[in-house]
Amino acid sequence: MNIVIVGTQWGDEGKGKVIDILSEKVDVVVRYQGGNNAGHTVVVDGAEYIFHLIPSGILHKGKVCCIGNGVVVDPEVLLQEIAGLERAGIRPARRLKISDLAHLILPYHRILDQLREMKRTHKIGTTNRGIGPCYADKINRCGIRMVDLLNSRVFADKLKDNLREKNEIFRKVYGHPGFDFNKIYRQYMGYAAKLSGYVCNTALLLDEAVNRGKDILFEGAQGTFLDIDFGTYPFVTSSSTVSGGAAVGTGVSPDKIDKVIGVAKAYTTRVGEGPFPTEFPARFGTFMRDKGSEFGATTGRPRRCGWFDSVMVREAVMINGITDLAVMKLDILDGLKSIKICVAYKYKGKVFREFPHDASVINGAVPVYKEVPGWRGAVAGVAKFNGLPANARSYISRLQDLLGTKMSIISVGCARKDTIFL
Ligand code: IMP
Repeated sequence: MNIVIVGTQWGDEGKGKVIDILSEKVDVVVRYQGGNNAGHTVVVDGAEYIFHLIPSGILHKGKVCCIGNGVVVDPEVLLQEIAGLERAGIRPARRLKISDLAHLILPYHRILDQLREMKRTHKIGTTNRGIGPCYADKINRCGIRMVDLLNSRVFADKLKDNLREKNEIFRKVYGHPGFDFNKIYRQYMGYAAKLSGYVCNTALLLDEAVNRGKDILFEGAQGTFLDIDFGTYPFVTSSSTVSGGAAVGTGVSPDKIDKVIGVAKAYTTRVGEGPFPTEFPARFGTFMRDKGSEFGATTGRPRRCGWFDSVMVREAVMINGITDLAVMKLDILDGLKSIKICVAYKYKGKVFREFPHDASVINGAVPVYKEVPGWRGAVAGVAKFNGLPANARSYISRLQDLLGTKMSIISVGCARKDTIFL
């Protein structure tokens, strides 16, 4: 079975853990969008691994892990991640495959990301990794791909072309001295030598896997509301984070995808700027952030926290074709007297049950809450749904009713064993 895993909120839902668990049951794991703006934290036998580019499936022996054409790759970060795995005794040599069509992040992308962010009046709060500028070049048809990196003449040509135009913009618009061709060329040829063994036509590799009846897991990064089309634009990332992106970002046709599993936190978090209707008031927000260790895996930034928003997640269920939902971090709600679930928004006397697209409505939306009683004691370590406190069970059932999709996984702690399968 070929399964897509997608985030249903603003990323950081806990996809890493779900992917880690499901990786065991599949043959191939593939990333289809984003870059090292993502950070998946996986805890195995007490050891914590943070992945930015390499699918976390690499922790499972024998699994092939692909970085699809839809991903943007910072070669320096990728090499650091490979080195980190080798230090932990994991040899990705024959199991890691990088699409020859994946676009490269270059130093000017990273710097432009920072300079543009500094100049913006309405900041996006990007991760400053050069993700947006790299995707912009891809769409602008001046990007440089893995396959270009492996051909020194083509790489030199494309780099020269880019620097001719970009250095002028850097100097005139941003007062930045620009970039030296030789320095980047030498640095990237060094990366080419180290990465060439991993680069191949991954669409072909995946097609062969499908034809041989192998199971593929498509690993989504970020979340539905950071999607370039369906997210809270412009406070979004620059790729298609939704399940449709899995086909475009890997070359596997949509008819080969069997199932989409959505991942939602039992509450909501967001990193960076942008609207957040159910955001907690400051003091309670700080309390919940500490309780849930809500700090970015990539930038370490504190995450904003709020109540579960069923208007958002219902929209995500629709856009992604979600049939199964994984609810994460239920344990963080332990001990609360009561819990709120957002069921609609109110704006200027009108009630919105569907997620509005007009930014002024989302910005001014007042959540309509259903309040349910909390539970005493801890849910961590509970292995069966029936073992949960009655109020925790009814919270989950309430979410299920509101979202119209079945809950397949409930996570009650960081470790693999703290998971309830339904
Ligand atoms: P960018 O992807 O670096 O361009 O950042 C755009 C927006 O997406 C910012 O608000 C980031 O905080 C957010 N973002 C990007 N990647 C992630 C992620 O993996 N988790 C959560 N937020 C993210």
